[in-house]
Amino acid sequence: MEVLRTENLTINFGGLRAVDGVDFTIADEIVGLIGPNGSGKTTFLNLVSGIYKPTNGKIIFQQEDITGASPDIVRQKGISRTFQTNRLCLKLSVLDNMLLGLYSKQKTSWWQAILKPNYCRAEIKESIEKCFEILAHFNPELVKKCYEPITTIPLIDRRRIEVARAIVGEPRLLLLDEPTAGLNAEETMQMIKDINKIREKNKKISIIIIEHDMQVISSISERVVVFNAGKKIAEGTFSEVSKNEQVRSAYLGG
Ligand SMILES: Nc1ncnc2c1ncn2[C@@H]1O[C@H](COP(=O)(O)OP(=O)(O)O)[C@@H](O)[C@H]1O
Ligand SMILES: [Mg+2]
Repeated sequence: MEVLRTENLTINFGGLRAVDGVDFTIADEIVGLIGPNGSGKTTFLNLVSGIYKPTNGKIIFQQEDITGASPDIVRQKGISRTFQTNRLCLKLSVLDNMLLGLYSKQKTSWWQAILKPNYCRAEIKESIEKCFEILAHFNPELVKKCYEPITTIPLIDRRRIEVARAIVGEPRLLLLDEPTAGLNAEETMQMIKDINKIREKNKKISIIIIEHDMQVISSISERVVVFNAGKKIAEGTFSEVSKNEQVRSAYLGG
């Protein structure tokens, strides 16, 4: 079943067309998004997650037109993401960072918290348990370190926490922008295993992953989409796109 579709998605920054007429679809699958530096991959995710408004085109999520919706609304509808650079709050604890991922899901409002403290406490307890469960899935040590500030946490675990925070609210679509950036080869493979486990556990999460390491892309993606200069130039299995002449020249001649 189709989860997300973009039609002719386009954005101009002054004279630069950073995303140019992209028709993209994702169903229940992991799609790898690749392309040379500056080809518009991050901008595409920024459009889908509502950070940028498109100059042209449409974004359809689960049959609903969400073009122009704010990032908050997009997240509430079920699209969650991570960023190319770490966006954790360094001074906050592991758990507090995780709870931010549930912020838009919180049912208790401030006045209910005052009038019905027990209801509020129950909801917080449930949220914390959910955070622990997801953290344990990535690394059980993180549950033990849950009250420590992010500054004490090594990079691989910070990357894990970012992905964990993005999935704790049970999104239907997860957007990962270079989740292995800054990791060494061994940590990268570990991270890929973690991401694969998310899909094994929950087939109801579709994932778009931007990644520059071709080995990673070939091991994780069921389908690959290739961008060059803002345009989608190819899609298919990894072996199909890696044989594609246009793709080869984009990478070599770029
Ligand atoms: N907010 C912005 N204002 C102006 N230009 C931008 C902005 N965001 C991205 N760009 C430009 O759009 C192009 C695509 O960038 P980006 O999507 O970050 O590429 P990628 O993630 O594929 O490396 C680049 O030329 C970049 O400089
Ligand atoms: Mg990028």
